[in-house]
Amino acid sequence: MGNNSMGTTAIDKRRLNNNQHEIDAAGRAEELRQEILEKVAEYYRLKHAPREFEPGTTRVQYAGRVFDEEEMMNATDAVLDFWLTLGRFGLEFERQLGEFLGVSSVIPVNSGSSANLVAVTTLCARQLRNGLRPGDEVITPAVTFPTTLAPIVQNRLVPVMVDCQLGNYNIDVDQLEAAISDRTRAMFVPHTLGNPIDMDKLMAFVKRHKLYLIEDTCDALGSTFDGNPVGTFGHFGTLSFYPAHHITMGEGGAVYTNSLRLARLARTVRDWGRDCFCGYVNPSDGKCGHRLNWKIPGVGEPYDHRYLYTEIGYNLKPTDMQAAIAVAQMGKLPSFIEKRKRHFKMIYEGLQRFEEHLMLPTQHPKSDPSWFAFPITVRPGAPFTRRELTRHLESQNIETRYLFSGNILQQPAYRDIEHRIVGELVNSDVVLKGSFFVGVYPGLDEARIEYLLDSFHAFFDQI
Ligand SMILES: Cc1ncc(COP(=O)(O)O)c(C=O)c1O
Repeated sequence: MGNNSMGTTAIDKRRLNNNQHEIDAAGRAEELRQEILEKVAEYYRLKHAPREFEPGTTRVQYAGRVFDEEEMMNATDAVLDFWLTLGRFGLEFERQLGEFLGVSSVIPVNSGSSANLVAVTTLCARQLRNGLRPGDEVITPAVTFPTTLAPIVQNRLVPVMVDCQLGNYNIDVDQLEAAISDRTRAMFVPHTLGNPIDMDKLMAFVKRHKLYLIEDTCDALGSTFDGNPVGTFGHFGTLSFYPAHHITMGEGGAVYTNSLRLARLARTVRDWGRDCFCGYVNPSDGKCGHRLNWKIPGVGEPYDHRYLYTEIGYNLKPTDMQAAIAVAQMGKLPSFIEKRKRHFKMIYEGLQRFEEHLMLPTQHPKSDPSWFAFPITVRPGAPFTRRELTRHLESQNIETRYLFSGNILQQPAYRDIEHRIVGELVNSDVVLKGSFFVGVYPGLDEARIEYLLDSFHAFFDQI
């Protein structure tokens, strides 16, 4: 008894010592974390703080990451956690973006291309009764981003290519009826450069033919049609968080939906195809409490739910460091959107005098675009070429880009895919030959935009 009580006392003492040591270490670690974060903020201010604009020397980018010490501190904070895969920042990002979009589910992925792949593959899920099956047709525009079309092809679906409208560069909603066949089951449409499609006409068509709809809103975070965020009209919206986009996490993206059923399937597709729905941080028994009691259908033996595969999937998750950066970006998103709109307006007003030769962008009266960029088409018959104009701008240190693929069926990778075409794709060829865009991103300011407009003037003065 005496020994026993002496022994217990010694053990208790050691435990107390250990506890005290752990408390001291945790306290010191927390102090260090704060010190490191303060140093990171100082580093940001010295190394990355925005510089004065020097006309002709500073590049007027079309897009780029806009950040401050908060993004760098969050990223460092996540590194110090060293959880690495999606965790607390991932959950916070899902919550904040879901709230911003007004949707029940946001599923982060590692790129906008992955978001598109997850969305299309989910609609092909074997568990989705009435899901898409090989050979089914998906209506999509010929002017597009390659990885909007690629997952249609990869899932053995047949794209039905529709022309775009010049000015808004979106799918021509007046040609949709001509695109329908008895194999048509879905639409996958980008809101080009953030400019919302006429959703009144599009949704009437989608409902009339009971189609699935995926909206590629990789370029349209913050854009609305009739007051509703684009991406929430259909079954899925997809986003990209590459540095050129409205917010960034380096490489990243998300799929979002108001359907809990589709969200669960999308998580399965994103996460190796597994059935487990535990999320990122979960107890050993799983959130369901009986992780080891699941059954593979038709096999008697109980099986670990984490390794029960119900879909053919991938691993397309981003890391918690990426999510930490995105959380910091979320706080800036409203001001980013406002700046994009302001810069667009300034460029529009400045270029109106050149409308004889430059086609300026158009938008639907019910839309409020959060522009990705400012599209311009050199009118056929203009006394100069797109190449001459963009070369001039580039020589003035102003970044330009062509409108993604142009008519994508002209691109080598897509020439031989199985597809159907509606009409002649005349406008898509005009885009291929004559369209380009300049930036409106929040890293620009009045000085940069005035310089950009002056450079257009200089070009027109010399022709
Ligand atoms: C409309 C559209 N869809 C998809 C993507 C692909 O996104 P990511 O580059 O993140 O893969 C992009 C990229 O710019 C895009 O503009």
